[in-house]
Amino acid sequence: MKNIIVCALLLALVPLAARAQDEGVKLQAANVDVSNTASLQRGAKFFVNYCMGCHSARYVRYNRVGQDLGLSDPQLESYLMFAGGKVTDTMMSAMPRADAIKWFSTAPPDLSLESRIRGNDWIYTYLKSFYLDPKSATGVNNTVFPHVAMPDVLWELQGTQRAVFNTVKNPDGSSYQVFDHFEQVTPGKMTPAEFDKSVRDITNFLAYMGDPVKLTSLTLGLRVIGFLVVFFIIAYLLKREIWKKVH
Ligand code: HEC
Repeated sequence: MKNIIVCALLLALVPLAARAQDEGVKLQAANVDVSNTASLQRGAKFFVNYCMGCHSARYVRYNRVGQDLGLSDPQLESYLMFAGGKVTDTMMSAMPRADAIKWFSTAPPDLSLESRIRGNDWIYTYLKSFYLDPKSATGVNNTVFPHVAMPDVLWELQGTQRAVFNTVKNPDGSSYQVFDHFEQVTPGKMTPAEFDKSVRDITNFLAYMGDPVKLTSLTLGLRVIGFLVVFFIIAYLLKREIWKKVH
């Protein structure tokens, strides 16, 4: 019985421990806007070009993306589906799972619902936080996801950067490292501002995939508000008309 109570107490502390670890790095605000169709179109293109080599979005169909992002079937085929396939296909990566595990020692997770699992700010900061680390197998590490198995796939656009850590001493004499800032090592094809915008577009597309209904609910919400405004005006005029006779 005592063991069960101890186990229950330890389990209750697990979320606290996980949160304490997350607090290590400050997340940057993604400020995504799923009603910005141009940003979603750019994000979708980045996703197909830079992410789908390894990741799938198994719950998302190309033609649904086309419908939501204002792309016709021929546009969809030339813009997002250069590897072929049918517009009714889901967005599956061509990488066999077994190979992925062999290469990365873990399978790249499906990203359909990633924005719900990690949150937009996490994804945005994660994609910007790869830094050079000669000790790692991929040559890079990540401040948001230490020892991550994913290579820095956007390095050509961002350039490479190194992380500067501060050493903090504990009262008992031991010390630990706290991330302070990044320093650019080699420049990328994009300026930092352009890169931020592109990462925001990718994050926006992931946010849209995680909640595709949001697009519809936004327009529906605006229509409902429009209806209420018109209805209010009619009701007001009607009230004036009726009370005129009473006075
Ligand atoms: C070369 C293969 C590869 C490519 C290309 C790639 N990734 Fe990854 N990614 C991985 C692997 C492997 C992991 C698992 C990392 C781990 O668990 O250590 C991962 C993990 C992630 C995670 C964290 C998942 C989680 O919650 O644990 C996110 C988010 C992610 N990738 C986003 C992206 C995005 C966005 C792109 C495109 C810009 C991309 N990845 C391109 C291999 C890749």
